[in-house]
Amino acid sequence: MLMKIDANAFMPMEMPVMTETHEEERLMLNEIYELLAQEPLDAELIDTKLDALLHHTEVHFERENRNMLIIEFRPYPVHKDEHDMALSAMKAVINQWKLNRNLKVLRAYLETELPAWLQQHIATMDMITARFLKMYQDKGGELDFS
Ligand SMILES: [Fe+2]
Repeated sequence: MLMKIDANAFMPMEMPVMTETHEEERLMLNEIYELLAQEPLDAELIDTKLDALLHHTEVHFERENRNMLIIEFRPYPVHKDEHDMALSAMKAVINQWKLNRNLKVLRAYLETELPAWLQQHIATMDMITARFLKMYQDKGGELDFS
């Protein structure tokens, strides 16, 4: 069965730029799911797409972290912690996959664990963060989503 993350799976944010970033990752994941269901498997191409996903996620988290610091957001350490843990999990799974080519483990992570994490993180940490970033911006504050 081909896995797909639905278009409405991730809660929209009060900061459209954050919604766009999450949407990009949803599309990247859906593209990877197609590669994971292919036979024969193109492991090299999967590696490339996984590296791109990791890079995108790093930039995504850094941008949120940076803007939380700009607005001196109190829950910053908690939110950043979730990012750090998710990122090290992603790195570990990708490295393992490159070493052992265990498709079952990779699929369990990409198709179950990661989307569940994203959905939950977006609906909690990101939702409240976006709300405070928007309030800061509405009061004339400058954010940095470069
Ligand atoms: Fe986040």
